[in-house]
Formats: sequence, C-alpha cells, structure tokens
Amino acid sequence: MSGGTNTEAEADGAQRTRRPPSTGHSPARMVEAYERDRLTHLRTAVERHGPVVELSPGTVLVTDPEAAHDVLRRTNTDFLTAANLMLEDMETRKGDPVLEEWMDGRRRMQAAMATDLFTDHRRWLAEQTRELAARWARQGEVRTAVDDLERMMGRSFVRFWFGTRTVPQISDAVSTLLKALLPIVASPFRFPAPVRKVMPRYARAHRARRRLVDGIREAVAAPGTGGLVDKLVAAGTPHELLVRMLVSNGIASYGVPAAALSWSMTELARHPDVAGETAEAVRALGRDDEAPDEVRHVLDESLRLWPPTWLLFRNARGEQSCGEWRLPADCAVMVSPYVIHRTADCYEDPDVFRPARWRDLTPERGAFLPFGAGPRMCVGARLARAELETVLAQLTAGLDLGLPGPHPPKPDVQRIMTPTDPVFTARRR
Ligand code: HEM
Repeated sequence: MSGGTNTEAEADGAQRTRRPPSTGHSPARMVEAYERDRLTHLRTAVERHGPVVELSPGTVLVTDPEAAHDVLRRTNTDFLTAANLMLEDMETRKGDPVLEEWMDGRRRMQAAMATDLFTDHRRWLAEQTRELAARWARQGEVRTAVDDLERMMGRSFVRFWFGTRTVPQISDAVSTLLKALLPIVASPFRFPAPVRKVMPRYARAHRARRRLVDGIREAVAAPGTGGLVDKLVAAGTPHELLVRMLVSNGIASYGVPAAALSWSMTELARHPDVAGETAEAVRALGRDDEAPDEVRHVLDESLRLWPPTWLLFRNARGEQSCGEWRLPADCAVMVSPYVIHRTADCYEDPDVFRPARWRDLTPERGAFLPFGAGPRMCVGARLARAELETVLAQLTAGLDLGLPGPHPPKPDVQRIMTPTDPVFTARRR
C-alpha cells in the first residue's frame, strides 16, 4: 500500500519536474555561437527549445519567469553566486563567514538608506544634470553621453556616500578598475588560480583594485561629515566591512546607471512625442526631489527593453529543480532578464517601446528583473531608481534629443548592455 503511494508520488514528481531540452551543442560550439552574437544566440535557443534550455552540457539558460524567480529566490542556499568581480574563486553559501558578513553589510546599508538622505541628494543631482544638459545643448551634438553620464554618476556616488569629505581620486580609481576588469568579465573563459597568477590582465586588475581599496580607506578616514558613511559608522559598522561594501557599491554605481540612462535617451530621441509629453509632465510637477509617473514609465520601459544587467549567473549546488524543471547536478545557470523582458507571454508587442503600458501593468513574478530578485537583488535599487528618475526628468525637460542617422545604436553586451557609440543631436527644449 505504502509502496503504491510512493510510486504515485514519484510519478507525480517526475511529471512536475522535467529535464530541460538540450540544443545538442558541445561547449566549444556553444561558446563560438554565443561569442558571434550573444543576444541572438540566447533568443534563438529559447525560440527553438523553450524557456528553460540546456545550451551545452552543464550550462542551462532560464527564461521562464517563475523558474527564474525561483533560482534568484534560492540564491545563497541552492544556487550560488560566483563573485568574479572580486577576481577570486568565491562561491559563498549560507553559513559561510564571508557571505554572512556581506549579508550583514547589505542589511546595514538598507537600514541606513531608509532616511532623509534622498531629498537633498536628488536636488543636488537635478542641478548637476541641468548643467550637463546646458553643456550638451551648447555643443549641439553629443558623442560622449555614456562617459559624461558615468562621470556624473561617479560624482553622485562620492557625494552620497562620503558627504563633505574630499575624495577626488576615488572616481578615477573606480574607472581604472572597471577598465582593468573589462577583458576579464568580457571573456567567457575562466582560468584556475595558478594560471591567473601569471596573466598580466589579472595582475593589472589586482593592482587597480588595491588602488581603489587604498583610496577608499583614505577617504573614510578623511576629515568631513555627512553621507551614508557617517550613518554606517554611527551604526557601528566594522571598518573593513565598510570598505568592502564601498568597493562593491562603487563598482556598481557608475557604468550601470550610465548605461540605463543612455538607453532612455536613445528611446526618447526615437520617440519625440513621448519625450514632449514627458517634458511637459516634469514642468507641470515643478519639483527636483520627485518625478512624475511619465518619467517612471519611460524608465521602466527602457529598463525592460535594455536591462543593463542583462544576464545573471548562478551555480546550482548539486542537483536542483527550478519551477517545473529538474536541472543537471552542479550546472551553471544563466538567467536572462533581457530575454524574459522580450517574451510575448509576458508583454504584448514585447519589442515595442511603449511607456504607456506601465499605466496599468503589474508584471507577473519574475517577468521584470532589471534589479534582479531574492536575497542578492540589487542592494542599491532604491537609490538607483531615485537617481535615474532625477536625471531622466531633467534631461527630458531641458533637451530636445534626436538621432542624426536612420539607425539607432546597437547594444554592446561584452559586459553590461550599453548602446555602442551613441550620437545624439541636442537642442534646448
Ligand atoms: C540602473 C541602475 C542599476 C541596475 C539596473 C542594477 C542592477 C543590479 C542587478 C540586476 C543586480 C543583481 C545581480 C545578480 O543577481 O547577480 C545588482 C546587484 C548589485 N547592485 Fe545594482 N544596479 C543598479 C545600480 C546600483 C547602484 C546605484 C548601486 C549602489 C548604490 C548598486 C549596488 C549593487 C550591489 C552592491 C550589488 C551586489 C549585491 C549582492 O551581490 O548582494 N547597484 N544590481
């Protein structure tokens, strides 16, 4: 009797979880096809084989919203992050002191950010953006949008965290580190520690990282007050944890928001009617520390079409299932917000830029992941949103943007998804 029940349960379980179909590609063939055109490769695999697919033995792409949410939600226990930005083989799981310290830092940061720091910061950033918009309007043509925005977001990071302390060297140090990291994160190949030791690119990245850590240590100790650093120190955050948080947050605070803003600019330049309505709404609201719904809709729509963090990586810990799929033991899992965001099951006309859809849209769980989800979701999401809304509102209200040629910039997906060499025409609105 009990045997019968077990068999039924097993059959039921087997139905509920199934192995993802495979493309049949060897790892070498998969890497080659992926490197040729990353976005097309992933979208084609999903179109041919379904939303959860084994790209090559041991590598699974997950683009079913429920399954993607499941993977992200169970990060730190069943699915582990590989922290390659820190240049180490670091797989951390619950109970591991390195992870627990990091999660403690996250909690402290969230608590310290639930304060009044935002209002003043938004006013400052709105003023900075107006200056940038005025410069671009004088130029008439903008070829340096991504760099200019990155620099402004760099100043924003320094001000938000360090208050009145003078720390000019940090922005430079972060940029140098990001440049040094590019060849490492852009390559699909991972090398064992002894090989990394003799590779010049790793030596350069380590040097850049040491320089940033030294700069941050100095900055934390510099005279001055204010910013998130003061709040974290007052809350008793250990010094070394503070430095570790600052390095990671510094890396995350420049390029990603600059990429998101460049995509919003691109879409506004392509859709002058939307830009006009949004500019009108910003003027009508007339505030620097808030943004109207129209700005939020443009932002959500460009984050949907062009999520800068377009691919998230996890490693399954042993055999795992996600949603209704059973994954191969210890497989590498790729979750792609980009592919999910462009799925017709989740969004009507998924490739069309239509901010008005957000007026009455609440995406299903796992269907909108620009900031990830679960315990390792973007810890700066609230700040990022406040910054992006502020900058976008001022750029839209101050500038009439256009694209000089017929073709919009193509996405560069070597690292974060960024428009390739975008050129805008810019006139004062
Ligand atoms: C457009 C702006 C931003 C976007 C789209 C974005 C997106 C993301 C995403 C998707 C993740 C999760 C990665 C994963 O699950 O593997 C992440 C992690 C992270 N983000 Fe952001 N981010 C943005 C801005 C920021 C800002 C301004 C900060 C700093 C204040 C920040 C700090 C971090 C940190 C520290 C992590 C790692 C969290 C962890 O591993 O526990 N991000 N971000």
